[in-house]
Amino acid sequence: MTNAHHRKARGDAGIHVAVIMDGNGRWAAARGLPRVAGHSEGAAAVRRTVESAPTLGIGTLTLYAFSSDNWKRPAREVAALMRLFRKHLASETPKLIENGVRLTIIGRRDRLAESLQRAIAAAEDATREGRRLHLRVAIDYSARDLLVRAASRCDPERLPDREAFAELLGEAYGGGEPARDVDLLIRTGGEQRLSDFLLWECAYAELCFLECMWPEFGEAELGEAVEWFHGRQRRYGGLVTAAAG
Ligand code: FPP
Repeated sequence: MTNAHHRKARGDAGIHVAVIMDGNGRWAAARGLPRVAGHSEGAAAVRRTVESAPTLGIGTLTLYAFSSDNWKRPAREVAALMRLFRKHLASETPKLIENGVRLTIIGRRDRLAESLQRAIAAAEDATREGRRLHLRVAIDYSARDLLVRAASRCDPERLPDREAFAELLGEAYGGGEPARDVDLLIRTGGEQRLSDFLLWECAYAELCFLECMWPEFGEAELGEAVEWFHGRQRRYGGLVTAAAG
């Protein structure tokens, strides 16, 4: 089955939006609050974003919650983030089911606490029938690590085409679904880089960098970004029809 056939079968046929949720710490510091308060407020922004995504024609939403490099942060902040993930998995699952959202966690699982691994498996299982939106949350995620893992599964005598490599990448995630191209990548917090997120999938993504901090993000900002995306002319390395003459 091709990438598009897979998506149609699962129902999540809208655009794929990926978000680098940056700026929680700065948002908190500007208010004299601890960084962790910024992450809690960031979780509220996640809820707003997930709720408005299906109404904006988004079929897949991939959120960067914790990169493999984030383990380098102070142990207290890492522990607080892990607590936040566990708490939200439990509290949000009923709402996800109600709203037809299928949740998948992408990234390594073996370095997560067993209780978190169990909570992830339970939430994925409980939401697996969701068809309005495929929500993917990246935890302990590194695109480079995944590319190396997928490459190591290639037959050196017979290199895969792009479609086949996307399948290998999907298997390397553990989820088994082929990697899907990102249409629109949004990064909040004013920085303009990809930070090891979805490097293969962003090959032809439109990149939208916003100055607002992640806790300030909501339906209006997401709607504006999607509208901007629809105004872009995507050529995938070719020419527009008129210029091709
Ligand atoms: C980046 O801000 C944000 C993170 C590393 C964590 C993202 C986590 C959340 C939004 C919390 C909840 C998530 C879920 C899925 C429930 P930063 O700390 O790098 O901010 P800074 O650049 O201002 O320091």
